[in-house]
Amino acid sequence: MLQEFISFTKKTFNTEEFIPLHAPIFLGNEKEYLNECIDSTFVSSVGKFVDQFEADLAKFIGVKHAIATSNGTAALHIGLLMAGVQEGDEVITQPLTFIATCNAISYIKAQPVFVDVDKKTLGLSAEKLKHFLDKNAVVVNEECINKITKRKIKAVVPMHTFGFAADITEIIDICNQYSINVVEDAAESLGSYYKGKHTGTHGLVGAFSFNGNKTITTGGGGMLVTNDDSIALKAKHITTTAKIPHPWDYEHDMVGFNYRLPNINAALGCAQLEKLPYILERKKILSNKYDTFFKNKTIQYLKGPKDSNSNYWLNAIILENLKERNNFLKVTNENGVMTRPIWKLMTKLTMFKNSQIGNLDNAEWLEERVVNIPSSVII
Ligand SMILES: Cc1ncc(COP(=O)(O)O)c(C=O)c1O
Repeated sequence: MLQEFISFTKKTFNTEEFIPLHAPIFLGNEKEYLNECIDSTFVSSVGKFVDQFEADLAKFIGVKHAIATSNGTAALHIGLLMAGVQEGDEVITQPLTFIATCNAISYIKAQPVFVDVDKKTLGLSAEKLKHFLDKNAVVVNEECINKITKRKIKAVVPMHTFGFAADITEIIDICNQYSINVVEDAAESLGSYYKGKHTGTHGLVGAFSFNGNKTITTGGGGMLVTNDDSIALKAKHITTTAKIPHPWDYEHDMVGFNYRLPNINAALGCAQLEKLPYILERKKILSNKYDTFFKNKTIQYLKGPKDSNSNYWLNAIILENLKERNNFLKVTNENGVMTRPIWKLMTKLTMFKNSQIGNLDNAEWLEERVVNIPSSVII
């Protein structure tokens, strides 16, 4: 079976060379826009491509405002600040995520609290979230208080894992009952929809990443999105050193961040975004090929959950157990087919091992079995 998978992958990617997990693809106006950017000399924090990238992305995902940032972690950091998270507050998130989600929470000196994921979506479980809040939380003066720690629960951060949409409307309904803001970690889910609405646009704010391994890339970059006018204004201000606009004076009214996306990165982003529909189409074709290949095999191929449209950023499979998973990783990587396990649970990392947790049965089960398989665009 393993040799069959290796041969299938080599045939699908039409190569006998090493097959990476996810390589970027440049098919359109990338070089033209980069040249234009260099010729203009505006390669840094100011320039027309930043505005264009923000406007084009907002249009594509159907949101009122998009604020470009230097990376996805920066977008999450500011998103949490916009949700009112302060030092000492608590933020509920999932234990099965990339470290950046928890890093952003920690930058504010807030405490992550971990609630289990759903086995079908790999994202935060609405059911487990409700159970956790019903047991541990109380709303006092429109603020959610953790009865155990006495801290405020200021935000919930669901993550749309590998581009599979979490049950975001159910999560938001529960959060509304408990007066908690939702910050969507949509770093991996550009092009994914839940009930017809783009991920990242359901909550108060959403954060995207354009790192080199994502569906489209700016080299490094991110985007904070929101439908809230006043949050958008504040977020733009704080990510751009909190400078008061003036033709020459340096007036800053608070401690801001230099989280600006350089114009040269935005130029790349504009060209990549033009090709996003094509990239998504091709990724769907690859997903269908994997789906057919894994039919009637002991390995389960993960299809996008119900009520959603997935971007199939990273294709994922579920092995029978830890031993099978380790063997799969060893043999595929030794044979030039790059595969990777899902992340180690955040609750096992030194920094977060003393955090409050709910029951994490699903995350623990998935941690031992889920593997990502090559997911680059095939032409
Ligand atoms: C789930 C998740 N959150 C946040 C990020 C952070 O994005 P960046 O690497 O652009 O900072 C990433 C990707 O890297 C991610 O996968």
